[in-house]
Amino acid sequence: MEEIKKMLAQTDDIASGLRLLTEEFPGKVAFSTSFGQEDQVIADIIWRNNLPIRVFTLDTGRLFQETYDLIDLTRARYKQEIEIFFPDTAAVERLVREKGVNSFYDSVENRKECCYVRKVVPLNRALEGVKVWITGLRAEQSDNRLGMEALELDEQRQLLKYNPLIEWTYSDVLAHLDKHNVPYNRLHDKGFISIGCAPCTRAIEPGEHPRAGRWWWETSKKECGLHSHNTQQEQIIQQPEASR
Ligand code: ADX
Ligand code: SF4
Repeated sequence: MEEIKKMLAQTDDIASGLRLLTEEFPGKVAFSTSFGQEDQVIADIIWRNNLPIRVFTLDTGRLFQETYDLIDLTRARYKQEIEIFFPDTAAVERLVREKGVNSFYDSVENRKECCYVRKVVPLNRALEGVKVWITGLRAEQSDNRLGMEALELDEQRQLLKYNPLIEWTYSDVLAHLDKHNVPYNRLHDKGFISIGCAPCTRAIEPGEHPRAGRWWWETSKKECGLHSHNTQQEQIIQQPEASR
């Protein structure tokens, strides 16, 4: 990993860094997009530079209509394949039968269980065989992300995680989207910044933290387990009733 880090440090821009990774790990680089603003920047760079990187998204089944519209708009604009991963049908059926369709509002544990079934398990499936996982994480987004680096080792999944925008500011992101006329989620025009599932995301007021609209009823750390450094959460709910 140190060797790759050094090589990446010598690249001039994100496209060259991504290209280097595809050369080092041919056929084993994948980018996860939630179609947020950061992800649209990375997708734009990947596709305008014809980089051989798989692009996938996790459809939890609870996304906003505006997000689905953006998926189609993005497909139409770039004419590139976007893999869409769904949760395991039986696991979701069991979850909603046992706990109801909106169990995430009842407790943090229930919320994490829903995220686990609808996001984490499908993510792990999408990453099977992958050596480099690319994300749109930025340090500014949260305290947890402040400590992250552009290239990290995901020990649990045994792969390299590359966060090319880790040091970008929100203005950098907006400037790229504007410069390249990249399609974006209409919800951004209605006060939404960080966008996840519809029942778990609200618009924010001016001056609020950009992630304040995610799981807004919770006071604890607002992370869903995709990027958790701590495996404890997954151990607690490793075998939730819903996936047994
Ligand atoms: S989350 O952990 O709070 O949901 P966030 O929305 O900030 O994550 O997105 C951070 C990064 O996680 C994105 O840039 C993307 O790489 C990945 N990600 C989050 N949600 C999804 C999703 N539904 N599908 C694919 N990737 C996702
Ligand atoms: Fe479930 Fe909400 Fe997590 Fe989406 S964000 S997977 S609806 S708890």
